[in-house]
Amino acid sequence: MPVNLHGRNVLTLDDFTGAEIRYLLRLAADLKTAKQAGTEVPRLVRRNIALIFEKDSTRTRSGFEVAAYDQGANVTYIGPSGSHVGHKESMKDTARVLGRMYDAIEYRGFSQHQADVLAAYAGVPVYNGLTDEAHPTQVLADFMTMREFTHKHLSDMTLVFVGEGRDNVAMSLAVGAAKVGMDMRIASPRSLWPEPSFCDHVRALAEASGGRFRLDEDVTASVEGADFIYTDVWLSMGEKESAWGERIELLTPYRVTRALMAATGNPYAKFMHCLPAFHDTETEVGQDIARSYGIDCMEVTDEVFESAASVVFDQAENRMHTIKAILVATIGA
Ligand code: CP
Ligand code: NVA
Repeated sequence: MPVNLHGRNVLTLDDFTGAEIRYLLRLAADLKTAKQAGTEVPRLVRRNIALIFEKDSTRTRSGFEVAAYDQGANVTYIGPSGSHVGHKESMKDTARVLGRMYDAIEYRGFSQHQADVLAAYAGVPVYNGLTDEAHPTQVLADFMTMREFTHKHLSDMTLVFVGEGRDNVAMSLAVGAAKVGMDMRIASPRSLWPEPSFCDHVRALAEASGGRFRLDEDVTASVEGADFIYTDVWLSMGEKESAWGERIELLTPYRVTRALMAATGNPYAKFMHCLPAFHDTETEVGQDIARSYGIDCMEVTDEVFESAASVVFDQAENRMHTIKAILVATIGA
């Protein structure tokens, strides 16, 4: 069946079939090749895109801006301050204003509900650039990277997310993996597992696609046979800083180390992270944590992060190519 994503929102990967996800990945690969060859054809000329960021961003903002400019579109960045969004004007009203000026809106914020409200009232495509619950554009970049680093189809791969099981990236990976028939596992302390209703939903999706979804507390057993080990920060944007101590205690056994990579039994296993990562003490937060807890890394050791198995900067680059595919597919000429 031909795939046509024109006018579609990207709120969560639940909005997409496995075939639609694969279509976006093929389009992203074509756009990446065209950019590298200098043969890119601009299909977003005279399009205007609003980028709302209620939280910080390096990759997502840059990805949207560069993708738009490469394709001939213009962007307006609306940051956490300097506009009325959320303070003096509701999301419903903001949506109806921006929808009259822009061809599409990217939104990074806190609750998924606000992204849904924006999409319900804007009348133009809305892209979720990360909420507390989901990070769908990240997962497209991750799947593109996984395709680049193995000869396997997505449905033949094993991906293990290690760390906070109810992390937005973990949950979006689980939905995406279930849509494309992947073997996906989450290794996490039970107290940080996603809601049972979410797990049931993912299991049902996996059953329909021929995939698998499993939750484990035993991290070593969980990574057996993995093609990719993925982790994320132990405390996400918007969570209370006072939770660091508890998270460090709970998640230290889930740190990605050389021994954990070896426990896959797969010498070609790759390490993934959406970034930013706490793998050293070269950041303010890293230094604060080192002072308070006496550790020089959190979710991944510097050794693994800097190793040949690490594909984190390929993931970062692919954010731009996959975001470009979303823009071209949904609002392209
Ligand atoms: N991975 C990711 O979304 O990075 P940013 O927070 O820098 O956008
Ligand atoms: N879970 C992280 C992802 C950052 C890209 C956060 O929400 O802060």
